[in-house]
Amino acid sequence: MSHDPFPTEHPAVVTCGLPYANGDLHIGHLRTYVGGDIYSRALKRLGQETAFVSGSDMHGTPVAVNAEKEGVTPEEFALRHHETYEETFPKFDIEFDNYGHTHDETNTELTSELVRTLEEEGYLYEKEIPIAYDPDADQWLPDRYVEGTCPYCGAHARGDECDEGCGRHLEPGEIEDPESTLTGNPAEYRERSHRFFRVSELQDYLNEFIDRLEGTSNAQNQPREWIEGELQDWCITRDMDWGIDYPGETEDDLVLYVWVDAPIEYIASTKQYSERVGAETFDWEEAWRNDGEIVHIIGRDIIQHHTVFWPAMLRATGYVEPRAVMASGFITLNGKGFSTSRNRAVWADEYLEEGFAPALIRYYLATNGGFQQDVDFSWEKFRDRVNNELVGTVGNFLYRSLLFAYREYEGTPEADLSEEVRDRIEAAIEEFRAGVNDYSVREVGNAAVRLAQFGNEYIQRHEPWKLDDGEEKERVIRDCVQVAKAVCVLFEPVAPSKAERLWADLNEDGDVHAVGVDAALDAPAASFDEPSELFEKIDEERVEELNEKLEARVAETAADEEEDEAESESDEDGSADASDEFEPLLADRIGFKEFQELDLRVAEILDAEGIDGADKLAKLTVDIGVEERQIVAGLKQLHDLSELPGKKVVVVANLEKAELFGVESNGMVLAAGEQADLLTTHGDAEPGTRVR
Ligand code: MF3
Ligand code: ZN
Repeated sequence: MSHDPFPTEHPAVVTCGLPYANGDLHIGHLRTYVGGDIYSRALKRLGQETAFVSGSDMHGTPVAVNAEKEGVTPEEFALRHHETYEETFPKFDIEFDNYGHTHDETNTELTSELVRTLEEEGYLYEKEIPIAYDPDADQWLPDRYVEGTCPYCGAHARGDECDEGCGRHLEPGEIEDPESTLTGNPAEYRERSHRFFRVSELQDYLNEFIDRLEGTSNAQNQPREWIEGELQDWCITRDMDWGIDYPGETEDDLVLYVWVDAPIEYIASTKQYSERVGAETFDWEEAWRNDGEIVHIIGRDIIQHHTVFWPAMLRATGYVEPRAVMASGFITLNGKGFSTSRNRAVWADEYLEEGFAPALIRYYLATNGGFQQDVDFSWEKFRDRVNNELVGTVGNFLYRSLLFAYREYEGTPEADLSEEVRDRIEAAIEEFRAGVNDYSVREVGNAAVRLAQFGNEYIQRHEPWKLDDGEEKERVIRDCVQVAKAVCVLFEPVAPSKAERLWADLNEDGDVHAVGVDAALDAPAASFDEPSELFEKIDEERVEELNEKLEARVAETAADEEEDEAESESDEDGSADASDEFEPLLADRIGFKEFQELDLRVAEILDAEGIDGADKLAKLTVDIGVEERQIVAGLKQLHDLSELPGKKVVVVANLEKAELFGVESNGMVLAAGEQADLLTTHGDAEPGTRVR
């Protein structure tokens, strides 16, 4: 590792945090991968020897828990997601030099080797600690199998991370009021022997390491807070059978904590790359053992792992320490969090199916704010940025100048490049280089956009369409074509496929992905054909349509969920043991006062109609005595709507208003089970009568 500006003489490794192979990708997930891809392409453009690697994170409770829900083995489940990720990334022009996974041989072997080294070097010891246990399920409760209260900040937390509060890693036994996620019951703590890594011995080293760490400032500042006090040792084993066995372990069910083998995949993946292309092209050992420039690109929720545990592991086993950690902010959708369980997301597949080019979302994610800032996505903002910047600035400049050049000269006229334009392109290259050295993906992307903006001003200022044929006109057009070529070279990291097309339009030879920044100043091809338009406008109706689709999906999922919940409550074949069929009773009792806060009323259904496009939702008009209400309920498939008017039901009258499928719902109708068996009265209680 060096602290010289890029490009350096040493091989660089750019990594992206490994995605857990446990679900579908949405565009929020893409942020760090897009950032990593842009960053590694930009390094390569500068002439830095670079390997860009990642892989799927196959182990740990995040995968085991979800596999269990689907009733498949964790291996089958994780491999399936791994394959999907492997196919999806290239569709967004995210091209890893190697994309492996943590369950493959390279990683399992390397992991065992590193752990053995830790052991030999005296960094490991065994200790009895309290581990959460579910007596009903007769099972240990590692990590996500247990939830409770964070001892540091009091927030609700997962067993190994305070995911809703302070963000800290939590050691086994630390979480307070532990509850089993298997049964919802309180968990017990039982003593159990585990392996620990003496991270505390590396405290001084880690303090110095953090001082010299480059990247985004959050990656330096957050760990300083954590390691100010005394550093704790780190428990590196778990009571599970899915994972990499603790080396030499004969005891059953003791595997390495997922955070041990996951980052080792950064090395394993680089190794696979070397093995594929040959060590002359890229030598993984030189990079990881000797003097590589290691740059980790991650989400800010995993800073502690990358700035404390991981460098401690590298240090203790004789590997190169990271040069930089770039930690991205979070991403929201219309101002609220993405929610996979509520289907409140723009899915990666969906984005592609809508026919949007990868360049658009890459540009949006990369330049909407600084890398460590949070980014909000909305289709409106997406449209604005595509229309104003990609179409209005970049596309507009390229099209008008190249079309003019083609019509007047069938290519680039013979003329010298003006000094002003040469200087401006050189300045853009400097901005690009500075962006890389400041670890700013946004600046890398903006260098090209600002250059295109200059191009627009330049062409406007010289109005070549008003000039007579001759030297002056030839020079202006030559200048414009040069700027277009430079934009192509500098925009390649953000918009690789678009750059490829533009390169072809410019009739340039060779591979635009392989050229250096200096190509921006090489003479353009003398002749080219009529250019194509690189970007298309997105119109208003399209945005409305996309928003409606999103809303509809969220509403459908909510209705499905109600149904699923109902399903698990109903006793379908009547044969099973009732305790398996019904949801367990809630453990927490509420007071009468809390019950009274529910305003339940007898109501009469006046009208019921389906909602177009929604499978299950019906719009009901009900009389609740004091007034008439419109309520949306998930009844459509379960009832003959024409039979509902006149029926008496019970509604929650003081539930917050909601909008489902664009229809306002002012209250909730009570119904039981999968068949939405409506609650009614058996006497003649009038509509409006309170139910208690
Ligand atoms: N799978 C982890 C997560 O999504 C990240 C692992 S990154 C690595 O939080 F460092 F372990 F590789
Ligand atoms: Zn906390």
